[in-house]
Amino acid sequence: MTDPRPPVRREFFPRKIRQWLVPLATAGLIGGIGAVLLAMSGVLNLAASTPHPQGWASFLHFAFQRSVAFHSRNLDPPAEIRSAALIEKGATHYDRVCSNCHGAPGMGQNPIALSMRPQPQYLMGSSLKEYTPSELFWIVKHGVKYSAMPAWPAGDRDDEVWAMVAFLGAMKNMNYQQYRDVTLGASKNATGALPMLPPGDLRPQPYVIGGTRTAEAAVNFSTPALGFGHSAEVAEIGKSCVACHGVDGRARASGGIPNIALLTREQIIRQLNLYRTGVRQSGIMQNVAVQLTPQQIAGLAGYYSSQPKVSGAAVKADPTTLALGERIAVRGLPDRGVAGCASCHGVTAAASKAYPGLDGQYPLYLRDQLRLYRTGVRGGDVPANPMPAVAAKMTDREIEAVSLYYASRSPAAPPVEAKDIAPARLAAN
Ligand code: HEC
Ligand code: HEC
Ligand code: HEC
Repeated sequence: MTDPRPPVRREFFPRKIRQWLVPLATAGLIGGIGAVLLAMSGVLNLAASTPHPQGWASFLHFAFQRSVAFHSRNLDPPAEIRSAALIEKGATHYDRVCSNCHGAPGMGQNPIALSMRPQPQYLMGSSLKEYTPSELFWIVKHGVKYSAMPAWPAGDRDDEVWAMVAFLGAMKNMNYQQYRDVTLGASKNATGALPMLPPGDLRPQPYVIGGTRTAEAAVNFSTPALGFGHSAEVAEIGKSCVACHGVDGRARASGGIPNIALLTREQIIRQLNLYRTGVRQSGIMQNVAVQLTPQQIAGLAGYYSSQPKVSGAAVKADPTTLALGERIAVRGLPDRGVAGCASCHGVTAAASKAYPGLDGQYPLYLRDQLRLYRTGVRGGDVPANPMPAVAAKMTDREIEAVSLYYASRSPAAPPVEAKDIAPARLAAN
């Protein structure tokens, strides 16, 4: 039987709107062509020498703030956001990079920064108080389009961005002296501690911008590149490390920055080259490493690897956690096919110098690196790097425990034989 009703024509737009469609589309087309012609004519004045008209500048900033609020709404700061470790990790980088544009406590802004349009805000003004930590995270990680505000150069290093947010939170209550103390670190007392190294030859080399997962381009440039915020102090290249890693490589006791005296010369050279080519991502260390020549890298590696290997700080952890850490270090996770860390890194005598020493390293650093291996952000440099596969099978609790365990050991401790470790301590817990 056929349906007696006439077929209903499906209308996408109701009639009332349809009658406006053609005129609107025509107006849009004319407007678009007009905009292209205007741009082609070149009469638009995009010069930064005159500021944006007041209303337009306010509108742009309003749109930016709304965008930040919207995109950061589901971000949660890490538990240690107020810790000295994170604050100190962000401090020197702020001073060398961000303060060029945004100024610092007791110090105003550079006239070159003030000639940018839009102008970088003086963050010590009301600006920092206007944003939540999550909003600051979004701004620092992603930067601001159509402005000089850069994105974080290591796109996958959220942990570093949070360190910068932690520092911004602390900076808003600092005076000049407090700012100087935290940003100069050990370098304020270091006079001529490190040799000035020769500049060396300059060979062009490829450099990855973005990161392993967010790489957008590989460019060629001659190294060393100018680091952002290179200065007379940084030109004296050894001193450039001291603010963060100390004269002895042990960095600061709060533990946000690694103890590099624990590494061998070859390991330091390898890691600096990975940062220098952008293969190992770190918004902080990449800026440092691009400024170094191969000769300087070799000189600094020789210097730091010959410093005494001492833990930077005493570690507090409960015995259950340490026992779990010890079990993972010595036995690994046999149910998941993870070899004991000791077979490469030590605890037992099986350790080899080819692997970085973990004894006495800061727990926060160890934990963060294991997390980075686990998500594939670190370790993609050589197919044979065993760490991504090791970390991929570990839970947060296991990472925490093994990090605390290695951190609690002294780098000078003699190796332990697995058979000497009490079976009770190795039992599942
Ligand atoms: C080359 C200059 C430059 C550098 C370097 C720079 N910024 Fe910015 N930043 C800007 C500009 C320009 C803006 C303003 C964008 C706007 O208003 O649309 C901005 C905006 C900001 C804001 C928002 C301020 C507000 O009141 O809305 C924060 C926070 C910020 N930057 C933090 C940082 C941090 C942290 C660093 C270092 C990692 C940094 N910036 C490095 C130029 C810079
Ligand atoms: C602004 C602070 C800062 C400065 C300056 C700095 N570092 Fe670092 N360094 C760090 C941080 C933070 C890390 C950890 C980065 C990461 O998570 O990958 C690090 C990591 C390293 C590592 C890798 C450690 C490991 O266990 O794999 C080496 C090697 C190193 N730095 C050497 C140097 C040398 C040499 C200099 C001087 C030319 C220097 N750094 C200057 C902050 C700094
Ligand atoms: C087969 C040997 C091997 C095993 C097993 C192994 N590692 Fe590693 N580990 C390495 C190598 C090689 C590196 C250096 C990799 C690189 O440059 O990224 C490394 C690097 C690391 C680092 C970074 C150190 C630094 O200074 O940046 C940490 C942390 C680490 N391993 C922890 C562990 C833990 C915890 C375990 C056990 C669960 C473990 N490793 C098991 C070989 C191993």
